[in-house]
Amino acid sequence: MATLSGKNVLVIGGSSGIGYATAAGALAQGAHVTIASRSEEKLRAAQASLPGKVEARALDVADSASVEAFFNAAPTYDHIVVSGAAFKFGTVRDQNIDDAFAAMNVKFWGAYRVARKARVAADGSFVFVSGFLSRRPKPNMVLVGAINAALETLAQGLALEMAPIRFNVVSPGIIDTPTRAAMPAEARKAMLENVAKSLPVKRVGLAEDCADQILLMLRNTFMTGSVVYIDGGGLLV
Ligand SMILES: NC(=O)c1ccc[n+]([C@@H]2O[C@H](COP(=O)([O-])OP(=O)(O)OC[C@H]3O[C@@H](n4cnc5c(N)ncnc54)[C@H](OP(=O)(O)O)[C@@H]3O)[C@@H](O)[C@H]2O)c1
Repeated sequence: MATLSGKNVLVIGGSSGIGYATAAGALAQGAHVTIASRSEEKLRAAQASLPGKVEARALDVADSASVEAFFNAAPTYDHIVVSGAAFKFGTVRDQNIDDAFAAMNVKFWGAYRVARKARVAADGSFVFVSGFLSRRPKPNMVLVGAINAALETLAQGLALEMAPIRFNVVSPGIIDTPTRAAMPAEARKAMLENVAKSLPVKRVGLAEDCADQILLMLRNTFMTGSVVYIDGGGLLV
């Protein structure tokens, strides 16, 4: 299997959660890592706490001008991980249509913009992060399931259109990351405990569970167009 040693790896969403764990893992495997996200403050904090030297650059994947400016000033990367997204949930009837468009804009069109503008080595790869809702739609989260399904199909199409550059997708189940930081602590704890009880593995996921799979996808040169579920068996129950 190929190594990440000396490779240029960009992790979009690298300031938190799954992206942060991926950046830490890539550093441990000897990669030159750049993390990117919107907030300079979060980037600086991540840069200070990651176990090694990383470059940090501001980027908003929801904004075409930001993506264009970022990649105009960027080197050719060996690998790009797109784990950066933030959006609101809601039912199709009740969610504000602008919030619905914003969710698709950041998570689906964000990955599309990056694939369109980034320079990536011919033997390089992309990993997108989707989510289990594409296979297990849930009331109140219908749109996000559809966005995840679109993202998975986008990656598979790009695996053909941009070959030999490889495209793979990690689809997480419930992962305990700062994404739920706004929930009241007690409600969050109870929710995570309930999910853990329901899963065959009897625990919720950690960011590192997803990062391990992402790093494997970057290194495995025979893997493209794959969607891997890191969900503790959630699709089985
Ligand atoms: N955690 C779960 O249970 C779970 C389950 C299924 C799928 N997922 C998916 O996994 C991905 C990562 O989630 P996570 O749990 O690691 O979330 P997280 O801890 O909240 O991290 C999200 C990261 O994305 C960045 N980001 C948000 N909007 C961005 C934008 N417009 N442009 C660039 N970067 C942006 C954030 O930084 P800034 O705020 O600085 O931009 C942050 O670094 C998301 O796509 C999420 O939908 C997560």
